Amino acid sequence: MDQTPALRRPVTRRNFIVWWLAGLLTAFTVALLAPILVYIYPPASSTQKQKKTITLTQSLANLQEGQDVAFNAPPEFGFVMVAGGGANYPGKISFNGFVLNVQNQLIVLSATCSHLGCTITRPSGASLFLCPCHGSEFNLVGGVVHGPAEAPLSHFNWQQTNNPNQIVIEGVALPGVG
Ligand code: FES
Repeated sequence: MDQTPALRRPVTRRNFIVWWLAGLLTAFTVALLAPILVYIYPPASSTQKQKKTITLTQSLANLQEGQDVAFNAPPEFGFVMVAGGGANYPGKISFNGFVLNVQNQLIVLSATCSHLGCTITRPSGASLFLCPCHGSEFNLVGGVVHGPAEAPLSHFNWQQTNNPNQIVIEGVALPGVG
C-alpha cells in the first residue's frame, strides 16, 4: 500500500495574485453596490411613518387669530409632507413648520419653500411668509402670493393632544441626521 501523504498543490505567485485581485474586485463591487441598494431598497425603519410629539414654545390655547408658533423637528427625525407641489411633493421630508390660527382654525404648514426648498420665515407683524432665497411670498394658509414659487406650501398629518403645548406630527426616523 502507498503510504505517501496526499500532496498539496503549492501556492504559486500567479495563484496568489489572481486570488488577491479577485478579493479586491469583490470588495470594490460590494462597496459600490451597497449604497445604491440601500437607496433603492431603504431599510423599513427609515421609511416607516411614526408619530412624534412636538412641544411648542407657546400654548395653542393662547394663539390669537393670525398668530403662529414655529417648531422644529427633533434630532434624527423628519416630518413627512402630505400636500403642496413643486419641490414639496407628498412624501418629501421637512424639518420645520408653523401652527397657525387662521379664522379660529388651527392649521399646520411646512416651513419648506415649494420653489427650491429653502426655509421660509414670517417677519414680525407681517401677514405672509417670505422665502429668503428668491423672494417667494406665501399667505397664511400657504398659498403663493409672489413667485418664483408656483405651488403652495405643504401640510403635515398632525393631531392635537390633551396638552395645549404639544402636537403630534407624522414623520420618519432619520438616523444620523440632525
Ligand atoms: Fe424659496 Fe426659491 S427656494 S423662492
